[in-house]
Amino acid sequence: MIKQAIIPLAGLGTRLLPLTSVFAKELLPINGKPGIEYILDECIEAGIKEVIFIISKKKLMIKKYFYNDALYKNIIKRKKDPRIIKEYKKILKYKKMIKFVFQDKPLGTGDAVLKTKKFIKDKYFLMLLPDDLIIKKNCSKSMISIHKKFKSSVMASMKVNKNEVSRWGIYNVKKKIDKINFFIKSVVEKPTIKQAPSNNAVIGRYILPKTIFAKLINLKPSKGGEIHITDAIQSLINDNNKFVGHNFSGKYLDCGTMKGYINSTLEIVKI
Ligand code: G1P
Repeated sequence: MIKQAIIPLAGLGTRLLPLTSVFAKELLPINGKPGIEYILDECIEAGIKEVIFIISKKKLMIKKYFYNDALYKNIIKRKKDPRIIKEYKKILKYKKMIKFVFQDKPLGTGDAVLKTKKFIKDKYFLMLLPDDLIIKKNCSKSMISIHKKFKSSVMASMKVNKNEVSRWGIYNVKKKIDKINFFIKSVVEKPTIKQAPSNNAVIGRYILPKTIFAKLINLKPSKGGEIHITDAIQSLINDNNKFVGHNFSGKYLDCGTMKGYINSTLEIVKI
């Protein structure tokens, strides 16, 4: 069973400036609810019991959001507003399942994952990248059932425009399993159009094995001077670990860019 999820949250959010100059992007509201709560709700519905947040000192605001009990208690004591009571209960529910670890230098997603090493208990865990919202269908839940079936790692996949491949991790497909799943031959981080083996992009949902930590420890920074999770995954594939790509059926919303962030509210309002 997959019971633990990790969420890297130490990113600076420069693509969303000026909104992120004093504010954590994951707390920005999408239709009246912080983006991170959509991610937490996806986890809860998928059966996750513990979520590890990887934050930095600059993102302490995220911890405060879940630890602002004194404020809620004071307000509730003065006036018993049912809406505030309900919201506080929800925050308490989230808080119970969240652990915080720190990544103080932005050395990449691979480095962020490494910070969770001593907390991961089971053979596999889930990772969600908070910039990537997937609505209408719970992608994590579908990936967990694929993991159960194939006893393998699983990564979310989506076809992107051929001229946008350099924004993503890109898969080389080994073998189709069915209409929506395939075995992964290789994966490359942000290739040029020429280098890209396909236009199947990695989207921010991963079921990874605990053995990835041993790979991450030995990994050197690559593209952009960062330690990429994609490189550790490739190293596991080289050792014959099975990775399944899952073309999810929900709707993808890219909340990490200004255009995508604005659009996410418009899309969520429709459902
Ligand atoms: C990260 C991953 C990339 C993946 C993307 C999905 O990139 O490194 O492989 O395709 O997330 O959102 P980032 O968005 O951090 O640049």
